[in-house]
This record gives sequence, C-alpha cells and structure tokens, in this order.
Amino acid sequence: MKTLFLLCATAALCLFASCESPTKQMPYNQGINVIPKPLSLVQNEGSFKVTKSTKFYASTPEAKTIATFFASKIESSTGYDLAISEEEVSSNAIALLIDNSLEVNDEGYTLDATDKLVSIKAKTAKGLFYGMQTLMQLLPAEIESTTVVNGIAWTLPCVTIKDEPRFAYRGIMLDPCRHFIPVENIKKQLDVLALFKINQFHWHLTEDQGWRIEIKKYPKLTEIGSKRVDGEGTEYSGFYTQEQIKEVVAYASERFINVIPEIELPGHALAAISAYPELSCKGDSLSPRIIWGVEEDVYCAGKEETFKFLEDVISEVVTLFPGEYFHIGGDECPKVRWEKCPLCQKRMRENKLKNEHELQSYFVQRIEKVLASHGKKMIGWDEILEGGLAPSATVMSWRGEDGGIAAASMDHDVIMTPGSNGMYLDHYQGDSKIEPVAIGGYTLLEKTYSYNPVPDTLVGLGKSNFVKGVQGNIWSEYMYTTDLMEYRIYPRILAVAEIGWTPLEGKDYKDFERRIDNALVRLDCHGINYHIPQPEQPGGSINFVAFTDKATLEFKTTRPVKVVYTTDGSEPTATSAVYSTPLEFNESATLKIRSVLPSGKMSPVRTITVEKQTLAPAKEVAATKPGLKMKVTYGYFLESSKLEGVTDWKESTIKDLFEIRSVEKTDESMRNVKQYAAVASGYVNIPEDGVYIFSSDNEEVWIDGKLLINNGGEVKRFSRHDSSVALAKGLHEIKVVFLGHIIGGWPSNWNDGSVKIRKAGTEKFEAITPAMLSY
Ligand code: ACM
Ligand code: ZN
Repeated sequence: MKTLFLLCATAALCLFASCESPTKQMPYNQGINVIPKPLSLVQNEGSFKVTKSTKFYASTPEAKTIATFFASKIESSTGYDLAISEEEVSSNAIALLIDNSLEVNDEGYTLDATDKLVSIKAKTAKGLFYGMQTLMQLLPAEIESTTVVNGIAWTLPCVTIKDEPRFAYRGIMLDPCRHFIPVENIKKQLDVLALFKINQFHWHLTEDQGWRIEIKKYPKLTEIGSKRVDGEGTEYSGFYTQEQIKEVVAYASERFINVIPEIELPGHALAAISAYPELSCKGDSLSPRIIWGVEEDVYCAGKEETFKFLEDVISEVVTLFPGEYFHIGGDECPKVRWEKCPLCQKRMRENKLKNEHELQSYFVQRIEKVLASHGKKMIGWDEILEGGLAPSATVMSWRGEDGGIAAASMDHDVIMTPGSNGMYLDHYQGDSKIEPVAIGGYTLLEKTYSYNPVPDTLVGLGKSNFVKGVQGNIWSEYMYTTDLMEYRIYPRILAVAEIGWTPLEGKDYKDFERRIDNALVRLDCHGINYHIPQPEQPGGSINFVAFTDKATLEFKTTRPVKVVYTTDGSEPTATSAVYSTPLEFNESATLKIRSVLPSGKMSPVRTITVEKQTLAPAKEVAATKPGLKMKVTYGYFLESSKLEGVTDWKESTIKDLFEIRSVEKTDESMRNVKQYAAVASGYVNIPEDGVYIFSSDNEEVWIDGKLLINNGGEVKRFSRHDSSVALAKGLHEIKVVFLGHIIGGWPSNWNDGSVKIRKAGTEKFEAITPAMLSY
C-alpha cells in the first residue's frame, strides 16, 4: 500500500536522529526547555557541570532507587559511571533527599542547582523521580541518548524550582485492539511518557476487532478472539500473555506510571462473542470485526452466564493490575439486540427498568459491585451516565465536556478527554490531502495545548475539584504500524502533559512551541517517529499542478518551521533554497519540498509535478443522453488490473455517480454484502475553460482517456491523490472505476461514489452533478 510506503520513508528518517552527534551548542539546547513547565522556576547566575566525578548523594532507600535509575541513564549518554554515595557529599553532587516537611504535594519536588550542588527534595520517591526528570531536561537534549555522545558540555543552568502537578491524573490511552502494539513498543512509549511526567497508562484491551489479553479460564478469547482475516485476505492477530502484562505493569511502575486495564462492556464485545457465541443475545456464530465502526452484537444483558463470564474475567484481570482504577468501557453500546431479546426484555420487566438505557445502567452497576468486591474503582466512558450513573463511578468525558460536567455536578470524579477539544490524538494534525490517512478531525498541536480540563460551568458550581485530570486518546484504526501510532501521539501528548501538570496561568503556547524543538531531539534519542509539519498548500495540497500560463505555488506549515526546496529534481537538504514567498512557474518542473527542524531533521519530501498544459479540447459529440453507461461484474477485486480478464459484465445506465456504489445494499456490519466492481463511462460537461482539480475516493478516475486519479492499494478514505488538468469548456470523456472491497479496515462501499471538482483558484470542491453527465 502506498500509505505504508510513506511510513517506511518517514521511519527511515529516524536513523538520522540528531541526538547522536552534535558538534556545537545547538540552538535547541539554548534556554530552559522543561516540559511540562514547572510551577515556579527562577534562573540564577552560573551553571552546574556533570563530570565523571559527579556523585549522587542518596541515603534513603527511595533516593537510592531513583539515583540508580538515573545513574544508568546518564551513563548511557555521557559514559560517566556516577557513584552513589550514602554519605553526604556537598560538592560536585546531585543530592536526592526525602523531606516530609516540604510544602508540595506527593508528586511535587524542589530543585536547587548551584555551581557546586544540585539538591532535589521531595516527600516521595515519585517526587524525586520527577525532580530528576526535570534535571535531565535542564541538561542538553542529548542526555537522552542511548549511546555515548562526545563533545558536549553536560551543564545545566543554576535554578531554583518548586514544582507540583495541577492534576493527579495525567493520562494516555493506547488501543492495541484495532492494531496491535508489541510489548517492546509499549515499553518504549512508557520510557518517553515518563520523561514528561505522564502518570496513567490506560490500556484498552478488548474490542470488536480483537481480544488482546490472555484469560486462562477462557482460552478461546485469544485462540479465536485475537485473530481476524482482514479485507486484504491476511490474518491479523496478537495478544498479551499474563506474564507480559505483569512485565509491562512492573516496567510502568518503575517509571511511576499506573496501568489501568480496560475490559469493554456491554458493547465493543464482538471478539469475545466470536469466541463464546452464547454471550450474545442471538448466539449466532460470528467472527471478530474486520472493519472500523461499532458492532450491533453485544453482550446479552438477560443471561446470567454473561455476568458469570465477566466476573471470571475480572477476577483474573484484577490480579495483574495493582492500581485502584479499572475501566469497563461502557461507550457506544447499540441496543438493537436487547430490544428484540426475550431474556433482555425479561430482565427489564423483573427489575422494573423503563428502557434499554436503564438495562445498560443495570449491567454497569452489577459490574461495579464485582469490582468493588476486589477493591477496585470503576471508570467508564460518559455513556455510563445513561439510565443512571453507578454510585461510585469515575466518568471519562469523551463526547465533549457535557458528560464530565454532569458527573462532576453529581459529585463524581471525572477525567476529561473530549475529542472535540483536542484530546483525540488519532485526529489529523495537518492537511488530510498529504498526511497518512486518519480517522478524521483536525487537531493541531496548538488546539490540544489550549485545552483547559476545568470548564467554567464547574468553577461556577464550585465542583472543579471533581476534575481529577486529563487524558489523550489514540485509537488505532488507522495506525497500521507502531511508527504511525507514534506519528499521531507525538508531539501532541507533550501538550497533554503540560495541560495536566502546569497551572493555567503558567501556560504559554508560543513558549511551548519553542521548547518543543528541544523535546523533539529527546524523542529522536528514543527513536520516536514524531510528526513534522509538512509544507501544505492553502486550500488543499495537491501533488500534480497543471497550469496554462503561469503557476503560483504557495506553502504554509502548521507551526513555524523552515521549508526548503529544489526544482532540479534533487532531494532537498537542510541547506537547499529556503522557501519564503510563493514560487512561480512558467514552464513544467518538478518541485521537491520539505520542512527542516532546528535539529536538522527533515520531514518527508513532497514531490510536486508542475505541468504546463494547453486546454484539452472538448469532444464534438452529436447527441447524448443524460447519465453514464455502467458495467458491473460480481466478485471481490483488490486491484483494477484484475478486471482485465473479466468477461461477464452486466450493462446498464445510471443517472448519478452515487449509483456506482449502490448496486448492492451495504449492511453496516458488511457481513454477507455481495461485492462487485463497476465501471461508469460517458462525458462530463465542463462549464468553462480552465484548470480543474479532481478528487475522489473511487478506485480510479480517467479523463479524456488518461488516468487522472489512481487510489489503487489505498485506504479509500480522504482522497490523497487529487490531481489537476486543463480542460476547454464542453464535453470530456470520463471513466470512473469502483471496486467494492475493504482495505485498511475501510469498506469502499461506505463512500458516496462521487467525483468532486474545483476550478483552480477556487476553494471548494463540488460533486459532479447528474446535469453534467451524459453518454
Ligand atoms: C470512544 O471514543 N468510543 C470512547
Ligand atoms: Zn439479550
């Protein structure tokens, strides 16, 4: 797939991680760059230098643990094997001290650096850990390197810091269900999240598309429920053994990150139901979902065996996760099966439940009691408010802030993670025309950063103390590789980290944007494939620009970065021509353009063909009828080349392009949907002379016998192959190819079949209308 190719290209850039060999004082190491920004920081004269004879002074067990952890990290990048002394050292030392009289909370610390001594004090080991993370961020970014970096002065400025977090809960949710995340990658994320003082890892372990945690009493959950055969025909699988879960939990704990399991109920349960069909209302034999979206088959709320099953699962899961929170999902549970199920309806009558929402509430409240018997606190998505909130539930507000406001108003704890306010990190963070395909949305770093988890309404009600914190969510539908997952997470999770830690008054986006440059080098050291803003064309990026007289290409980036380019076909480097004003072309050319970070790291190259054309003449056609001719053949085609040998075409005519994809009914679950390929052809009437940009999620669009849009092998969503052509007013041949299939979890059948056009110089695409079509 082309998407995957782009990814590999992006990943390859990591090899040039700038953390490995800087030779001079790099611009990103200037100033104070700590993320999240501390509560208070005063910079004093002078600096403290870490040398090979610097010692840790650590006399308590907590302090020794922290000193050992960081001595090892510091040794990796500096080569210095710093001694840890139990005896007080007052010069050339980093002193780690537990001090219960300190006026900070349990996660807080103070850090005093003079030219002789750095003294970090906290009430807890966790506070010392965070103090040391701040110390590391005061050192050059290369301190995060996993190999020795020479030629660096390991100095930090003399500072006086007093710091503690704004919120106790600062989280990230990862979804290994739609696409799996191997243990090694989870650990890599935990290493990095700890740098930025994230302290909660919400692990979404079960879904319609896959069950990812071993349950010994129910082996089929992983034997059957962890596997699916995707639309491409390949098996997709993966799960964590209980031993691996323990390993991750222990690894997180060393980094002061609590792990919260999520076992979804009563919906998002198709993988479990596929393994144990008796858990659903109808008991049909099903298989894990291979497309995105929400499954209608959910756990039956009428059967006692559903609750027995969940009690058993929970009793195994609680033993693996020592933290107090347990997430039960609760979101997006369709009620259609319950409405028709005699057992669910009987349960409702017996318990005097007015509707299926109250049945959901009954379900969740039963589970709450199970969790309470294990000493666990239940968290659920905000749908658990429907039909009555379970008495002790913590609500995770994702559909905006309303659920969180409602729950906090009723004195329930709340975690804010609203998708509409920048907390869904699976959204686009740049132009969808050139970014790898994502679920949708548009969440720039600045949008994430500007979120305040305490709504004014709650301040007004005096209930802001019920907001326990904030979380960034990364759903993995479109994260076909872990590189892509990192591309989504970073750097936006750093904004979430600062929201969670820094007081509102201390936040400053411009300053954060500056500090990001330093943080990105740290991410390089960890081999993180973070997002780099690409040069984008206002009004929609496009890689094939036709023109007749002159083309003017303008570029912008989603945050300020240097942009370089070439027009001689060579790969742009950090020293190529710098883009400053729109580029003008009078002749055909190949423009190669990319962004360069202060570290020297570059974005992928965008190659833009700029082509001088004469208006393609309109066709002289005697008489035409409205619509297009269409031919259809049944079968499952992943590529248009497979149509070449087909002989059994059924011919018809259509009035509108949407008919190309509605030859057969499309069931929401895509089960038993009859797949086919269709080719529509005829003429499109172009209203006036000009250059036209075409966009479509169909397989192919041909104009005047030339393949203009080729989405072959792609996820057929958010067209990334727009193209342009100069056309004279009048009729032009058009051919549109539709293949009904599922690539990357997206059924092409879910598209509208349209071909959209806009004239160069205008902003808005309009679908080609029936009035423009003829044959
Ligand atoms: C969710 O995004 N369904 C919680
Ligand atoms: Zn039922």
